[in-house]
Amino acid sequence: MRIYELAKQLGVDSKELIKKLKALNFPVKNHMSVIDKDTAEIIKHEVEELDKKEIEENVIEVDFPITIKDLATKLGRKPSQLLSDLFKKGKMFTINQNLDKKTAQGIAYEYKVNLKAKPTQEEQILQAGSKNVKKRAPIVTLMGHIDHGKTSILDYIRKSKLTNQETGGITQHIGAYQLNLSKGKISFLDTPGHETFTQMRARGASITDIVIIVIAADDGIKPQTIEAIDHAKAADVPIIVAINKIDKANANVDMVKQGLSKHDLVPEDWGGRTTAVEVSATKGTGIDELLDLILLQAEVMELKADFDRPAIGVVVEGRLSKGKGALATVLVKEGTLNSGQWCVCGKYGGKIKAMHDDLGNVQNKIYPSEPIEILGLNGVPAPGDKLMVVPDEKTAKEIMKKRQEEEKKKKITPVTHLRLEDLHKKVKQGEIKKLKIILKADVGGTLEAVEGALAKIPSKEVELSIVHKGVGLINSSDILLAEVSDAIVVGFKVTTDSQARSSAKKKGIEVRTYHIIYELIDDIRAALEGLLTPHIKKTFMGRARVKAVFNVSKSGVIAGCQVEKGKILRGAPCHLIRGNSVVFEGKIETLKRFKNDAREVKEGYECGIDLGFDKIREGDYVDVFGQEVISRKL
Ligand code: GTP
Ligand code: MG
Repeated sequence: MRIYELAKQLGVDSKELIKKLKALNFPVKNHMSVIDKDTAEIIKHEVEELDKKEIEENVIEVDFPITIKDLATKLGRKPSQLLSDLFKKGKMFTINQNLDKKTAQGIAYEYKVNLKAKPTQEEQILQAGSKNVKKRAPIVTLMGHIDHGKTSILDYIRKSKLTNQETGGITQHIGAYQLNLSKGKISFLDTPGHETFTQMRARGASITDIVIIVIAADDGIKPQTIEAIDHAKAADVPIIVAINKIDKANANVDMVKQGLSKHDLVPEDWGGRTTAVEVSATKGTGIDELLDLILLQAEVMELKADFDRPAIGVVVEGRLSKGKGALATVLVKEGTLNSGQWCVCGKYGGKIKAMHDDLGNVQNKIYPSEPIEILGLNGVPAPGDKLMVVPDEKTAKEIMKKRQEEEKKKKITPVTHLRLEDLHKKVKQGEIKKLKIILKADVGGTLEAVEGALAKIPSKEVELSIVHKGVGLINSSDILLAEVSDAIVVGFKVTTDSQARSSAKKKGIEVRTYHIIYELIDDIRAALEGLLTPHIKKTFMGRARVKAVFNVSKSGVIAGCQVEKGKILRGAPCHLIRGNSVVFEGKIETLKRFKNDAREVKEGYECGIDLGFDKIREGDYVDVFGQEVISRKL
């Protein structure tokens, strides 16, 4: 093959190609030079890579959205040319019409330009940096089931390690503090639970370096332990297990280890890779070992931060104090935080009036990995909100205003997460490779059955991954985890609790519940194959509680109910719920107000319901749904 032929294939001028080949160390004489086929292939590839790199480096910064006219100016072209390019692709635009980021970038790419968004004021502040990068302390969060001893472990560590011990109890002001051990520093967070942890992640603030899962040896692995493990796994944070309360007579460490093995956390002494240490928070047994393990893990992670730049931090907790106003416990991630500086924190901000540590002492300078409570914000921020020091009041106010506007916008157009119908499209576009599922079922047996059936679905392109599974109602922790992992929630013979229902709606998380296993499996299989047919989306309409059950010889059983939420509609599809399970799925066959037939009965009123199901019991709930057909969006 001759060079001019290759140039033609690549759509470039021979001269240009010869120049490029020189740069790539493939010197050729002229456009008539001959090269063999293999060399041509290599050259082709390298030239393409070079082009890509050139475009990558040819950056022009603009504000999005951008009009055709402005884009043309930036690219040094005539607007008419861009319009005709777009027209050729079947897109009609006018000169003053705004282009979104993707479209504008696509056009720019054809002109070998890498179009980037201009950094905002915020980004400029965040990008500022010095070179004083130093080792920082690990940030460790304790999670686990209620009462398993998280706070006790921290209390023991604090009391035993405090150098100038005060007499009597030490009051802890904030649920975060840093310990200064002879071997190194460690920052601890005693959060109310895994939800705060995940909430922080949901806001893009993964601050924890290491998670300690606390499990009481006398109680074993509980549902919230599993949730905590799965939340930590989803966050990809190293886990250390602390098996607590080993001083108790009924402590059963082996039982805990066995349970851990079932959750892919096989302890090291059982041949696995999970570090598990046996401790007693009351006696102090094993605590030193736990601290050593934390420091060892931190050493491996080589945690570093820039100590000199303007501080950036994350809110761990916010509260309103009667006398002091808004207070926020913040962990500094980078830089040094000084009293008196202006800052923005979530959508609030202010000048830092004072800073207090966990013992209530006033501090003036806070370094990376250190927690502190700050005073001076004009509102209470939420966990996960980011704190950022800004140069002055004016900048603080501008950023706050922008964030508040953004929040308003977000409220109008809620973000939507993955929907099963869109799965195949997203896979095809290379946006996702895994279908992540949070699976809930009524009892352990059905959970296993569903899991087993899911595992048997053949899937070539998409990997099915169960981020979390559990028994019981779909709760807000599930929704939160789905939000951060971009998972969908699948329930089998369970319903969604009301808090979770509203947060799923707000966040655009897909929750699908089923009562027939084949339907569940078919839907997932169809979604994986991109063949999911339009499905009927059930929207919650109302709930009634069964107060009494009457046997009416002629028509079976009538349930005397009280409408507790929304309304009940005759003919509407419904679920009969007992405890955490759906025991029957059908529709409201008959609806009565006193003796008369009714079309609907509203919240607060009593009614008689016939479901055509005679095993209905007092204390059951009837949930009624509206139906809406959702078409496939392929
Ligand atoms: P929540 O914050 O409510 O989720 O609980 P927690 O995990 O922080 O548990 P907490 O430290 O409050 O301990 C619960 C109870 O267990 C308390 O009564 C502790 O005294 C007791 N406890 C904690 N650790 C131990 C231990 O090692 N041995 C014994 N015997 N009791 C312990
Ligand atoms: Mg506690």
